[in-house]
This record gives sequence, C-alpha cells and structure tokens, in this order.
Amino acid sequence: MRSAIRKRLIELFTASSEDFVSSQQICDELGCSRTAVWKHMEDLRKEGYEVEAVRRKGYRLLRKPDKISEDEILFGLETESFGRHIYFQKEVASTQLIAHDLVNEGAPHGTIVVSDHQTNGKGRLQRTWHSPHGTGVWMSLILRPEIPLHKAPQMTLLASVAIAEAIAQQTGLSPSIKWPNDILLNGKKVVGILTELKAEADQVHAVIIGPGINVNQTADDFPEELKDVATSLRMELNEKVDRAALIQQIMSTFEKRYDDYMKQGFAPIKQLWESFAMTIGQHIVARTVNGQYTGKALGINEEGVLLLETEDGIQKIYSADIEIKST
Ligand code: BTN
Repeated sequence: MRSAIRKRLIELFTASSEDFVSSQQICDELGCSRTAVWKHMEDLRKEGYEVEAVRRKGYRLLRKPDKISEDEILFGLETESFGRHIYFQKEVASTQLIAHDLVNEGAPHGTIVVSDHQTNGKGRLQRTWHSPHGTGVWMSLILRPEIPLHKAPQMTLLASVAIAEAIAQQTGLSPSIKWPNDILLNGKKVVGILTELKAEADQVHAVIIGPGINVNQTADDFPEELKDVATSLRMELNEKVDRAALIQQIMSTFEKRYDDYMKQGFAPIKQLWESFAMTIGQHIVARTVNGQYTGKALGINEEGVLLLETEDGIQKIYSADIEIKST
C-alpha cells in the first residue's frame, strides 16, 4: 500500500478513536471506490493491523501492530515539539551516537532517534545495554535547554520522572525510581537512562537523553546475568504493550514536565521525583569513581545531587552506582 494512503487511513481511524469510519467517508477522503477501500483494509491486515468490518457501519481499527516507525509515532502524537522530528532506523549501533551527530548538524529541540535494534547499546558507567530486536524502546531525545552547566543533572531527574509517569499512565503499573534515574518495577530494572551533554564553558548546547525501556521481552529474552535483575512491562503486565503508543505518551509527559521546569524551576520536578523515589530513607552503598560510601540516603538537593548521611557526615553524591542494602 502506498504510504500516503496508509498515513491518511490511520489518521482517519485515529481521529475517530474507537468509532467506525464509514466506507463512504473513506471513499471521499481517499477519492477511491468501495472496492479499493476493501483492498486497502486487506493490505492493512497484511501489515498486522486488526480491522473490524461491520455492514452499514464501516470499518474500525481494533489494534495496531507493535511496530515502530516514523509514521507509527507521528500519528496521534499530541505534542508541540517533542518527537516532531523523528530519525528512525531499523538497526543502529547506538541511538546516542546518531543523536550526537544530529546535535552537531543542528537538529532542533525535541528531535528523537529511535531504533528497533541496537547492536552496541551504551549503558551508564561504560556498560553495554542489551537491546534486542523488536522488543524495547531504544531512543535518544535531543533537548536544547538554556541552562547553566551545573543544572544539567536536573534534566536526568526530569527524564526519569516523565518516563515513570508515562509508564504509569500507559500501563497502570506503579514504577519507582532508584537514584538517579533507574526505573524499577517490583524491584527489577525496567528502564535505564543514559544522559549525555554537549556543553562549552558554562553553557549547555544540548542534552541527549537516552532511555532504554524493556517493553515486550519475555524472561527468555534476557541473558542469564540479567534474569534476576531486569524485567519488562510485558512481564509485569502479562500482556504486550504498544511501543509506538508508549513513545507518544512519553513525548507528551516529557514535554509537559519540561515546560513546568522551564516556567517554575526544579522544585515541582524534585517533588515528583521524591514521590517516585525508592532510595530515600534507605541504607545504601554508593560506588563512585572516588570510592565507596555507605549511609542513609536523605534525599536530593536543589541541584539533584543525592545527599548521603555517612558516619563522617553528609556526603554529596554526584554520580554513582547505587546498591540498596536490606535492613
Ligand atoms: C543504564 O545503564 O542504565 C542506561 C542505559 C541506557 C540505554 C539506552 S537505549 C537507547 C540509548 N542508546 C544507547 O546506546 N543507550 C541508551
């Protein structure tokens, strides 16, 4: 099916939400015959769409395939700038690497890089990120905030709040955040976020937020070393999740929280972050490049820095791997 026709058809279905779209309306919109409409529906079915046809009512879209592509993300997207420029590729080494190139080429605020499969996904602290084909959301979002360098870590916390909110809204699950921005479900990691910066002197040129979201993996899809520590939305929900719809939801929530941040500063984000945080009040071990600290996590300060009460006083933790000790 020609992509312009498919685009228009999905737009019609999206606009009518759960209602039927009559054959006549489709004929008028596409300028074609009823037989041609029937053929288009067959083509949609072949592409994995579930379309119901009822006499005298028309057609209704019951389910979209769990496919991500530029079109799939754009249809139904309700944002002004987030996700409006999409760079989609079926397979990449890492969406972060592409995002860095796009930043250098002047990509606008809100641009996203999305892929179905990463062959060399990058994790925090020089780790790799397992990004198998067709199961997760492997994405990088380019932001161009006009903020000084020392405020950049706040973007990381903003990202985790926006994604946790989007997951809660989309699935009804109750995610929690482990400092700074791992998102967990029932104690297992479902989202990791890599934040990278392009900055000069004290000025931020771009922040690249790279979430890796385990969406439709089953337990067997995880390598042995991750089986006990990682989970997916599907495993927690017992049903598959539409990845394109999840991206749309993340774009909406993220744009809203970003606007809040730009208008009101970090305070509302800090409050939200704390409402999701599982780290606060817990005894933790923080492994940093300068050594290991043990103590009670008191919370985050206005900069987004973790405050740890240790035997030697309050320690500020800027970047670390956190282990929560069972008490
Ligand atoms: C972590 O270590 O917790 C962060 C993992 C971040 C993985 C994502 S997947 C999309 C984006 N592209 C990458 O190469 N990494 C991030």
